[in-house]
Amino acid sequence: MRPQFVQLCRWSSGAFLAAVLLVACAQPQRATPAPIDVRLQAPSAEQAGRYFILLGGCNDCHTPGWEQSGGQLPESEWLTGSPVGFRGPWGTTYASNLRIFVQNVTEDQWVEMFRTRAERPPMPWMNYRTINESDLRAAYRFIRSLGPKGEPAPEYVAPDQEPRTPYIVFVPRMPE
Ligand code: HEC
Repeated sequence: MRPQFVQLCRWSSGAFLAAVLLVACAQPQRATPAPIDVRLQAPSAEQAGRYFILLGGCNDCHTPGWEQSGGQLPESEWLTGSPVGFRGPWGTTYASNLRIFVQNVTEDQWVEMFRTRAERPPMPWMNYRTINESDLRAAYRFIRSLGPKGEPAPEYVAPDQEPRTPYIVFVPRMPE
């Protein structure tokens, strides 16, 4: 390249840069946009827990009257445990009052329980084995946020004993 040409290029690129700067500086000052707070859009731990409780079907057994209300009971009534037993070859079980139960276990114990427990029906422990840890923690926090309410559900009754409460029989029957 000829030296004069190189000189011209240097000059013109310098002039171009100066022009860009001039235009940029001439722009009216814009306020820096506020950063978007993603937490406003993402559900809180409690909302995620509420969603999980609903989809996990926990109210079906652990909330008295859930079925009859068509799922319309307010949260204040949720998960207070059932006085009606489920009777089958395993004996008679009662869906626990989870509002009281969570007061007596830590969040870590709650998570561990869903990984390891597999006990009497019809609590479907097997369905919940692979739930994300964060969902389990959210569920725990949601139930805790509702506060304790009600009485503990009746104690488990062994297969050879008669329950003293109403119960639903979980035994398949052949048509007569
Ligand atoms: C089909 C009915 C049913 C459903 C659905 C169900 N449970 Fe249960 N659950 C029970 C019964 C019955 C027991 C008591 C079992 C026993 O005595 O061994 C129980 C026990 C439990 C326990 C143990 C409490 C204790 O006292 O040791 C926890 C925790 C629990 N359920 C949480 C849940 C959660 C959370 C959900 C939803 C994700 C859920 N359950 C869904 C019926 C159900």
